[in-house]
Amino acid sequence: MSPEKKKQIGEFIDSLDRQDQIWTLGFLDSMLNGSASQESAAAKVPAENKKITIAYGTESGNSKKIANLFASRAKQEGIQAKLVSLDQYRLTDLAKEEYFLTVISTQGEGEPPASAKKFYDHIHQNGFKLPKLKYGVLALGDTSYPMFCKAGEDVDHQLGNLGGERIVDIRRCDVDFEQEAQSWMNDVFQRLSGGTNILPAAQPVKKSTGKKIYRGELLANINLNDLGSAKQTHHIEIACEDVFYKPGDSLGIVPQNPADVVEAIIALTGIDRDRTFVHRNDTYSVYELLHRKLNIVYLPERVVAKFAAHIKKEIPLTKTSLLDLVRSYPLKEPAQFEAFLQQLEPTTPRLYSIASSLETLDGEVHLTVARDTFTIEQELKYGLCSDHLCGLKAGDPIEFYIHHNDQFRLPEDNQDLIMIGPGTGIAPFRAFLSERESTGASGRNWLFYGDQHFTTDFLYQTELQQWMERGVLTSLDVAFSRDQPEKIYVQDKIRRNADKFFQWIDKGATLYVCGAKKMSEDVENTILELIKESGNQKNAETFLEELKSSGRYLKDVY
Ligand SMILES: Cc1cc2nc3c(=O)[nH]c(=O)nc-3n(C[C@H](O)[C@H](O)[C@H](O)COP(=O)(O)OP(=O)(O)OC[C@H]3O[C@@H](n4cnc5c(N)ncnc54)[C@H](O)[C@@H]3O)c2cc1C
Ligand SMILES: Cc1cc2nc3c(=O)[nH]c(=O)nc-3n(C[C@H](O)[C@H](O)[C@H](O)COP(=O)(O)O)c2cc1C
Repeated sequence: MSPEKKKQIGEFIDSLDRQDQIWTLGFLDSMLNGSASQESAAAKVPAENKKITIAYGTESGNSKKIANLFASRAKQEGIQAKLVSLDQYRLTDLAKEEYFLTVISTQGEGEPPASAKKFYDHIHQNGFKLPKLKYGVLALGDTSYPMFCKAGEDVDHQLGNLGGERIVDIRRCDVDFEQEAQSWMNDVFQRLSGGTNILPAAQPVKKSTGKKIYRGELLANINLNDLGSAKQTHHIEIACEDVFYKPGDSLGIVPQNPADVVEAIIALTGIDRDRTFVHRNDTYSVYELLHRKLNIVYLPERVVAKFAAHIKKEIPLTKTSLLDLVRSYPLKEPAQFEAFLQQLEPTTPRLYSIASSLETLDGEVHLTVARDTFTIEQELKYGLCSDHLCGLKAGDPIEFYIHHNDQFRLPEDNQDLIMIGPGTGIAPFRAFLSERESTGASGRNWLFYGDQHFTTDFLYQTELQQWMERGVLTSLDVAFSRDQPEKIYVQDKIRRNADKFFQWIDKGATLYVCGAKKMSEDVENTILELIKESGNQKNAETFLEELKSSGRYLKDVY
């Protein structure tokens, strides 16, 4: 291409915003793959105006981003598109839909995002049919998880079961989903424009470029709980020059399995530690696979069932470790274990909310990690990843990625925040407060924090008090559940401050909840009760729904 043409293209691309750039990418892709002619793809849309509904189910904003893009492309193609979040979608409309396109991610262990749960449950109740429905599903996921794109697959399958007509095949997208998503949109537009016979030949599946892996170094690791506490919560500081994140994001780590456990499995099964296997397109030795890639510490029941089938024995189908399995049910020969190795699932990443802001500390990431404990037959055990993190020392290397979460972001600088974050739920709010102090944001900040005891468990006490003194924190309400005979939790503090709480909300404050899922449910129930008790004209559920849909009630819970 001539330098002049390159310059013109560069100038044209610079003049576009990000959405238009992505649209152009999709347009060129479809043009080069023969699905768009030299004239606009819109020209193929028949005169009759098709109406489509684009419904998304998201946890961290990716599906929403794609659905938005899809809607703006539809508009450019001359198609009337209704864009809706699945939690705002009127389920009774489903039977009336003609074209229903869903963009949905998978969360937890193969579950739909919380915002899509009602829809997911609804379609899985049989007893109704959707004979008019024409549908398509774009499934977002991550191949690091064993149940890759499971929620999207379930929706695709079930809409078909209910009598819907699948107009395009489900597309499963890994973490770098944009190109794959564009290609799926092209397929949809072709079908909508009646182009069944001009569908491009199946594209080869693109190898995922995966997540950007950062290599950092531990700067500090401090137990924030004092002597006598029942807990260990570590403040961890990581240095990493080129790291980029925003407050509200989390850090993801794929934990390694303990070397002694791996050695014990190798010794018990007699497998050759250096024998190599291909795992997700890369080659690893048996030792590397067991140490770094596969989940061996707590196998789900489905894997235990596979082990039972493999050794042709009836064994209890409960979650257990691989070491316990091979110890309790010795294999006949190394080859038998080699064959089972292929049935093990990848280790799932663990996420930790980022507790720092790049506005304050460039090149650093801070975390607040609770060392997870549990007991097996009265023996105290520790969670795999949190135990590893809490044991790291200054100078230790650490590999991680950033899990972006566009659904948990700070509002405009002049808007108020109410943050509810007991225990490790404090982490993103430390990031929020640091950021707001650095940027001089004028909005007011109110934090509800809680844990078991004031003297031993008040995480970041000095910092929070200094933020109060400097006026960064406008209000701080703390609840220490076990410091008095009756239990007091953050939701009790909200109840005691109900008038002020609703005044802030009425003035436009955004409500954030982070931490344990159970806590977030208790908090939500308290808020609903308070609305009902206040005799508010509006239905309590509607009130919270409106807050949610206007982006003023955000949760990051686990
Ligand atoms: C969005 C998000 C943000 C998060 N932010 C934070 C944060 O800021 N701070 C934080 O501390 N955590 C956070 N978490 C939780 C964190 O990701 C991990 O889930 C947590 O640290 C536990 O992981 P682990 O590897 O230590 O424990 P795991 O090894 O995964 O164990 C977890 C549980 O599984 C059971 N278990 C495990 N192995 C066995 C076994 N062999 N036998 C019987 N039972 C077993 C136990 O009940 C144990 O408690 C967050 C999670 C999410 C999704
Ligand atoms: C806690 C957690 C659990 C996840 N579980 C799965 C899973 O079981 N299967 C999968 O394919 N992806 C899983 N993912 C990956 C998400 O589906 C992926 O990040 C997706 O891009 C998120 O899209 P969203 O922002 O629209 O929710 C999980 C992500 C997180 C944070």
